[in-house]
Amino acid sequence: MDVFEAIATRRSIRRYTGEEVNDDEIGVMIKAGQDAPSAGNLQARDFIIIRDPSVKERLGDASLRQPQIYNADVVIGVCANVPRSAIRYGSRGKLYSIQDATASVQNMLLTAHALGLGCCWIGAFDDDEISRILGLPEGVLPIALITVGRPAERPKKPPRFTTENVHWERW
Ligand SMILES: Cc1cc2nc3c(=O)[nH]c(=O)nc-3n(C[C@H](O)[C@H](O)[C@H](O)COP(=O)(O)O)c2cc1C
Repeated sequence: MDVFEAIATRRSIRRYTGEEVNDDEIGVMIKAGQDAPSAGNLQARDFIIIRDPSVKERLGDASLRQPQIYNADVVIGVCANVPRSAIRYGSRGKLYSIQDATASVQNMLLTAHALGLGCCWIGAFDDDEISRILGLPEGVLPIALITVGRPAERPKKPPRFTTENVHWERW
């Protein structure tokens, strides 16, 4: 699958077969996340891989009880390491670290899709609760949970804007 096909056919997958996703596949996803661009190449992002069902349950409870979190084989927490970026960029480091983290999320979703895995980007959660569950250090922000499993659904592509949000030369 080339990058054009991966971008065009990736979907949020919220139902999984329950078959195992192995550590090699997770490793390929993490490497793709680490290969994403980052401000000043500071790579102000950290990844937490969760397989423990009791932790997944707590994450689900802190994320509006979204079923895909309980049912995923693996959940990957992606964090913005604000202090790592702030050392060089001061207050701008918060924005940069969030962008560093989200750039890696998209790389990981596309890579998982190319591997035949299904993922969902989860952003609806209680930040403080997720930080507690994952033991995040002071200043590190939870940005996304990525649920990972083998796809048990093939959703249609939700509609996208075509020209409505595209501006030429200026807004
Ligand atoms: C910042 C962000 C937060 C999201 N949070 C959730 C979420 O909490 N739960 C969920 O099911 N999907 C979540 N999604 C996935 C979107 O619902 C999904 O990307 C969108 O509906 C388009 O569908 P597609 O990914 O299949 O193209 C999130 C996506 C983004 C970018």
